[in-house]
Amino acid sequence: MMQDKDILTLAIETSCDETACAVLKNGREVLSNEVYTQIEIHQTFGGVVPEIASRNHLEKISEVIRKAVDDAGVTLEQVDEIAVTYGPGLVGALLVGLSTAKGLAYALNKPLIPVNHIEGHIAANYIAHKDLEPPFACLIVSGGHTHLVDVKGYNTFEIIGRTRDDAAGEAFDKIARTLGLGYPGGPLIDKLSREGNPNAIDFPRAMMDQDHMDFSFSGLKSAVLNYLNSCRMKNIEINVPDVCASFQAAVVEVLKHKAAQALTTTGYKKLVLAGGVAANSALREALAQIEGISLYYPPLNLCTDNAAMIGSAGYYSARAGIIGSLTTNAVPNLKIGECKL
Ligand code: KG4
Ligand code: ZN
Repeated sequence: MMQDKDILTLAIETSCDETACAVLKNGREVLSNEVYTQIEIHQTFGGVVPEIASRNHLEKISEVIRKAVDDAGVTLEQVDEIAVTYGPGLVGALLVGLSTAKGLAYALNKPLIPVNHIEGHIAANYIAHKDLEPPFACLIVSGGHTHLVDVKGYNTFEIIGRTRDDAAGEAFDKIARTLGLGYPGGPLIDKLSREGNPNAIDFPRAMMDQDHMDFSFSGLKSAVLNYLNSCRMKNIEINVPDVCASFQAAVVEVLKHKAAQALTTTGYKKLVLAGGVAANSALREALAQIEGISLYYPPLNLCTDNAAMIGSAGYYSARAGIIGSLTTNAVPNLKIGECKL
């Protein structure tokens, strides 16, 4: 892409429980990436409490932006564009970032670039892999989403598979909560699984023999809960690492199977992994076994919510002329590929 001067993108992310700001150069080079996580605050409740999340974003956002700008060694005036997550997410949380971004865009007279959070997760890979370009197949697995997407271009997405009920990360979080492990459940189950036997309990793998690329994790979740209840009723000791490893193996097997199907259907040789569950070590190992393809995933700090990924997605939106305005609103249920400016 030819351009006369370097483009500096300031990006803001507040869709859930991370208050984040980053500065990027030319969409792929991270000059700063500041993330303040509220996880400890929400841990007491076993999940994110929306009202508390909004209030904490409001308290922290100015400090987080100041730090990101200082760390990048730039001034606000030098920034060329302001990218911000406008959906999907918790409406009160989104509005904190969006209102702040609008204020900055207005005061600095810079364009406002509204970004879809899930498309941001995909773009985390552009930062991690400088040579990665669309088209490719992408498996997006986060706390709120499980999708297989045909990424046809930087701003062109077609959903080819989706969960029909729970997201993969949601299943990890619910099982962890039932086992009394804490929140968020994914990293805890990932760690405990290393000490367990993935073949100890035969949990169901839904929709494996069907042509479509949709997922379902609610049956698996119920099967794990039923197993735990029946152990408790029969006074059988629960081997927590075995339960974790067996549950994780079921999730990973389905994700791998459907991702392989997506590659066959699209004919792509590139598989890109995105979202919080992309941090899962068993999933990475399983996908690496798919033959004849290149597998891409971001480093751990770019898998979970951050603003650098929003900056990268925003940079490519802006180059395509996708620009918001001071009337752009938060869209809590924004879909991949949807533009609601
Ligand atoms: O993408 P993300 O930070 O937030 C959303 O946009 O949803 O994803 C958070 C999710 C949580 O459900 C968390 O349990 C899961 O990602 N997660 C993991 C791992 N690290 C985070 N799941 C499985 N294994 C992990 N290592
Ligand atoms: Zn996310």
